[in-house]
Amino acid sequence: MASFIPFFFITMALLISPAYSLTCTSQTFTQKNTRFTNCTDLPVLKAYLHWTYDSTAKPKPTLSVAFIAPPAKPDGWVAWALNPTGTGMAGAQSLLAFKESNGSVVLKTYNISSYSSIVQSKLFYDVLDKKAEFSGGSMRIFAKLALPNDATELNQVWQVGAAVKNGMPEKHDFGPDNLNSKGTLSLVSEAATATPTLAPAPAPTSGSGIGGQNGNESGGSSRIGVHVAFVLLFASLLLGF
Ligand SMILES: *[C@@H]1O[C@H](CO)[C@@H](O)[C@H](O)[C@H]1NC(C)=O
Ligand SMILES: *[C@@H]1O[C@H](CO)[C@@H](O)[C@H](O)[C@H]1NC(C)=O
Ligand SMILES: *[C@@H]1O[C@H](CO)[C@@H](O)[C@H](O)[C@H]1NC(C)=O
Ligand SMILES: *[C@@H]1O[C@H](CO)[C@@H](O)[C@H](O)[C@H]1NC(C)=O
Repeated sequence: MASFIPFFFITMALLISPAYSLTCTSQTFTQKNTRFTNCTDLPVLKAYLHWTYDSTAKPKPTLSVAFIAPPAKPDGWVAWALNPTGTGMAGAQSLLAFKESNGSVVLKTYNISSYSSIVQSKLFYDVLDKKAEFSGGSMRIFAKLALPNDATELNQVWQVGAAVKNGMPEKHDFGPDNLNSKGTLSLVSEAATATPTLAPAPAPTSGSGIGGQNGNESGGSSRIGVHVAFVLLFASLLLGF
């Protein structure tokens, strides 16, 4: 029975705090004037997106982003893309970062017309600003894109790879995480009217200031938290008896 108590408390801690792992709200940037109004913990590949949508920018609205993810191997690559024509990789307007052999980090843009054709090119979106850096084991892509006037929801895709050969990113793995690394980026909040679709987890405390998350993202991490919690609860019951 003795083991029940500590396990029970760990379990409760997980149930109470959906954000038991590092979340984007705790990430900071060393550069001056690097602030983003929103951030999202992306569901796979340990990736995060910090972003600011400026709907009043002229001549076109802008989206400033910082995409953070560890490459699959230290000498690999990371990529983040918007896809104006579909939900997957085909058609993705990609920003891809990796380390050159001399150690400096480069950021290249690719219009990925198909899986077999990865050509460095300009993007569908005007790239107003871009840079990348390697920091603490993760690659960080910073970019500012001009968006069409009517954009409120965008398809985003992200990916990580293990290697770069002759300046070309090598194919990424095709594990479940590599195939699920896509989603919708909602630029405009559906506001306080949005209610969580899943009830079991306690409502996440609403983020203040920098980095409000959308409901689905927090829902995702809550579900994982609850899942882990139930496994632990089960384990603690077994050990308790
Ligand atoms: C590293 O190599 C790239 C491409 O060859 C070059 O553009 C860049 O300036 C180099 N960086 C340094 C620090 O030498
Ligand atoms: C991207 O590639 C597709 C297919 O080759 C082409 O139709 C499209 O115009 C390209 N987009 C840009 C912005 O270059
Ligand atoms: C982005 O952040 C702002 C400021 O915190 C918030 O008002 C807005 O609802 C957020 N947008 C989304 C889509 O979550
Ligand atoms: C959130 O999830 C619901 C149900 O799974 C889906 O219908 C909706 O489009 C999602 N919204 C966002 C912003 O991903």
